[in-house]
Amino acid sequence: MVKAVVAGAAGGIGQPLSLLLKLNPIVTELSLYDVVNAPGVAADLSHIPTPAQVSGFLPNTGSQGHKGPEEEKRGAVNALKGADIVVIPAGVPRKPGMTRDDLFINAGICATLAESIAEACPKAFILVISNPVNSTVPVFAEVLKKKGVFDPKRLFGVTTLDCLRASTFVASVVGEPTEASKYVIPVVGGHAGHTILPLLSQAKPSIPSSVLKDKSKRDALVHRIQFGGDEVVEAKAGTGSATLSMAQAGAEFADKVMRAAFKGETGLVAPSYVNLEADPSAAKTIQQEIGKDLAYFSVNVELGKEGIAKLNPVGKIDETETALLKKAVEDLEPSINKGVGFSPASK
Ligand code: NAD
Ligand code: LMR
Repeated sequence: MVKAVVAGAAGGIGQPLSLLLKLNPIVTELSLYDVVNAPGVAADLSHIPTPAQVSGFLPNTGSQGHKGPEEEKRGAVNALKGADIVVIPAGVPRKPGMTRDDLFINAGICATLAESIAEACPKAFILVISNPVNSTVPVFAEVLKKKGVFDPKRLFGVTTLDCLRASTFVASVVGEPTEASKYVIPVVGGHAGHTILPLLSQAKPSIPSSVLKDKSKRDALVHRIQFGGDEVVEAKAGTGSATLSMAQAGAEFADKVMRAAFKGETGLVAPSYVNLEADPSAAKTIQQEIGKDLAYFSVNVELGKEGIAKLNPVGKIDETETALLKKAVEDLEPSINKGVGFSPASK
């Protein structure tokens, strides 16, 4: 019996993500939470004949019909009670001209949800989609620490969309657009602009040297992976950012976490933005590789029964990637600090 919760379930990502989780046979209970329309989305999905039993929750309404943080928390706690996995696409998306850091207003939503998780399901796997991921994951960790329930093995920043983009764009550049899914490219660092570091030299199968050694082709490919989110934001022209590809990415990552934890599958590895304390001995190696004692970084994560079984080192990278890594680390550090230093009172 596996209970999955989507927080932000009525949104652009939330709805297709909830659909994909409803279709996942591992999920037996699917609880949808949003500040609007969650019961409607739940009623709709509940007619699909798959095992997951669906229910929808809104914030409880206070005595004057007010939905302040306390009412929000009570509704969320009802949705989250006993959850095994919580996937979180709650919050505002970008409009053209904005950076992900401009979405730091989402930190308050994340902090409130983290408090509810601490109360309702402190052992759940937490998959954070809400941007800016580089800061919102530290926000979750800090709240959970204050509540005394932080387990770094169970907290994940979802960076899978960067990997999907890398597969698709690489396949297109090498002239195999229909074979995109066969390309596996580790993407490390973080989830914003230059912090997104696709390790093209580690691609499997390898990328032909006609691309890797052609500076302009390679630079364009790296840039497209790093700024793929902007393509969608601009194409959607003010109506939001990636939702459908993100739903697929979130469902794919959640599926791996659940297969490892609840089906005992081994050998499941995927990049995720994590607190490196999840694997203290690997943390030292990774911090040496990146040349900085960052507390958060995205690396290939080996998944297991307790969430993170092992963090894999960045590994061998080439000269181009060494330069990109320096920039990624420079840009990531202030975003981490901003998340760690966030106090809900200052939102
Ligand atoms: P959206 O506006 O369509 O949906 C967001 C949903 O969150 C809405 O339904 C809203 O009612 C709900 N919400 C707001 N406050 C809430 C709260 N306190 N509790 C619960 N739900 C709440 O936005 P979207 O396009 O679905 O994007 C959601 C977030 O995901 C954004 O921050 C976006 O930047 C981020 N995102 C991340 C990635 C990634 O790769 N990690 C990819 C795409 C989008
Ligand atoms: C993405 O990569 O598509 C998301 O982070 C959304 C965005 O703002 O670009």
